[in-house]
Amino acid sequence: MSILEPLQLVLDEACALLLFDLIAKDLYQHGYSVQTNALPAELAALLAAEVRLLPADHFKKAGIGRDQQHILKPLLRGDHISWITGNTQVNQAWLEWAGSLQQALNQRLLLGLFSFESHFAHYAIGDVYTKHQDAFKGETNRVLSLVTYLNPNWNDADGSQLVLYPQDMNKDGLQVSPCLATLVVFLSEDVPHEVLAALGDRFSIAGWFSVNSTPVI
Ligand code: OGA
Ligand code: MN
Repeated sequence: MSILEPLQLVLDEACALLLFDLIAKDLYQHGYSVQTNALPAELAALLAAEVRLLPADHFKKAGIGRDQQHILKPLLRGDHISWITGNTQVNQAWLEWAGSLQQALNQRLLLGLFSFESHFAHYAIGDVYTKHQDAFKGETNRVLSLVTYLNPNWNDADGSQLVLYPQDMNKDGLQVSPCLATLVVFLSEDVPHEVLAALGDRFSIAGWFSVNSTPVI
């Protein structure tokens, strides 16, 4: 594998720490956090450009469930995904930023987040992801879900809002517009959520922080 020169992005550390404080406080109090303009602007723009340049055959139809139980159900989930492996500078800058969030949340909330996996997602017109949870107690080591959006000119007519159904909210839930650089973080087992039908192309990154499930001997 080639060694990639790290991207020199202008990252404002003081801003990042303030943001991570806000996210930690929200997670502690409510189990979720929604932050607009959370991703550094330059990183968001690079990711938005990169996902649009990925060749179509890099995207696979997304399924439901993991490993052997992985099944395709396009009516329940219509998006196509491409895993982020760190094979480009922009990929790496993203993984680094997610790593700094992981470290900050571990320091503030002692979550013991150990690993991170993420993919780009593309919802085309008509695609939905019906109400679901990202993890179920005892079945997975995913503890914290993250979504960030890569749509520079999103407006209400494009649909495809994320709706969160946290425990302390009425049954209508909380709608989030998938605007560039908005970040949503929530406890994977505690917050059911869905993606409403897309009326235009919608690009995002979904990711999960997991705890280490390897038994200590
Ligand atoms: C997911 C998911 C939400 C979104 O990929 O599991 O719930 O807004 N995504 O893209
Ligand atoms: Mn989900």
